[in-house]
Amino acid sequence: MEGRELVIVKLGGSLITHKDKPLSINLEALDIVSNALSKSDLPLVLVHGGGSFGHYFAEKYGLKLKPSRVSAEGVAKTRLAMLKLDLKILNSLDRHGMNPYPLPPSNFVGYSVESQRRVFFSLIDYGLTPITYGDVLPKRGGFYVLSGDEITRMLSETLRPTRAVFLLNVDGIFEDLNQPESLIEELKPEDLTKIKLKSTDMDVTGGMKLKIKEAMKIAESGVDVIFVSGRDSERIVRALKGEQTKGTLVRGDRIG
Ligand code: IPE
Repeated sequence: MEGRELVIVKLGGSLITHKDKPLSINLEALDIVSNALSKSDLPLVLVHGGGSFGHYFAEKYGLKLKPSRVSAEGVAKTRLAMLKLDLKILNSLDRHGMNPYPLPPSNFVGYSVESQRRVFFSLIDYGLTPITYGDVLPKRGGFYVLSGDEITRMLSETLRPTRAVFLLNVDGIFEDLNQPESLIEELKPEDLTKIKLKSTDMDVTGGMKLKIKEAMKIAESGVDVIFVSGRDSERIVRALKGEQTKGTLVRGDRIG
């Protein structure tokens, strides 16, 4: 199943939007990201989060990670916000010659491993860059939010990428975000208890906590995970190639 070079990149919502201002894109950050991604010769699959688009409405209408009977208006408005954000990202990627091809999660979530691989790799072989995003999906009992971090983990399990890169609005994972010298260069499962997470770093999909949890699962499945600042073009380029740079590495456990 392995053997194809591929990097899955999660574009954090806090990076590409102004998280404290509803429906506000961070065009400057997005441009740095698109430009750096366009320099990669490796095939990429992109996943983006919700930031001040999806999360704003998800919170407003009470959408959760578990299915619940939220209002139809809440489902529609959250989904529309994600599509609006997706369109802005698509425009930026297009400007940088990335040939993006949007794939809503409903086009592959729940499909067999073979079908998922066929969908993504045929787009890549055609010279396109598949891009998907956290979304609102129906399930028995109502609708739920599927986060971009969970999608990144699911796709890491099915597509078996060379590595997964999380682009953040900070330099990596810190023991304590208020202490710049506490950046964790290599995160091991036993270090998890050291990380102090702020209660303000929470959103409907669990913020940094869920991101780290999904990253650990990706690493357990044998794929290296790199957390890096999406504000620094050179670091992004180096992380995509798997070269050493400022950030946090979670080494994929390829044994067994
Ligand atoms: C959230 O996705 C998607 C919706 C709110 C619909 P993420 O949870 O991956 O978003 P960010 O990256 O944390 O903003």
